Amino acid sequence: MGDFVLNVNGARFRVTASSEETLLSVLRNRLNLTGTKYGCGEGECAACTVLLDGRATRSCLVSAESAAHAKIVTIEGLEQNGKLSVVQQAFLDEGAFQCGYCTSGMILGATSLLQERHNPTEAQIVAAMEGHICRCGTYPRIVEAVKRASRSLAQGTRR
Ligand code: FES
Ligand code: FES
Repeated sequence: MGDFVLNVNGARFRVTASSEETLLSVLRNRLNLTGTKYGCGEGECAACTVLLDGRATRSCLVSAESAAHAKIVTIEGLEQNGKLSVVQQAFLDEGAFQCGYCTSGMILGATSLLQERHNPTEAQIVAAMEGHICRCGTYPRIVEAVKRASRSLAQGTRR
């Protein structure tokens, strides 16, 4: 058992967990941040994606303890002062979801991509989002949403 502090969405949480307990488990089951989804639990679907120090990370593959020194952002942390992030708004505007199960991971994956690469080509978007599985098959709209977010950011819309 380890006793450590997680920095999630700008708040600090003291957690006691075994060294094997995943970040996904702690986020969902202890911190009640259920926007981060459990899909495969094996690193194959990206439904559980969060940002660790700005980088898209599958939270089912890392122990919570190993994330103790990182800045963690979940889907709940993107909206600020009642305003959706640019990527969230773009997904909404493009209707880039059906059941929505993959959407948190998609949005965080796209957020990470656009922080690294401000004006990605369609091929770069597809490559970056490739590991994200959408069982509803909304991939074309997801690509359009990422393009829309990229345009919005280029026009100076923050976040
Ligand atoms: S639940 Fe983590 S990759 Fe599928
Ligand atoms: S919208 Fe249903 S899994 Fe992607």
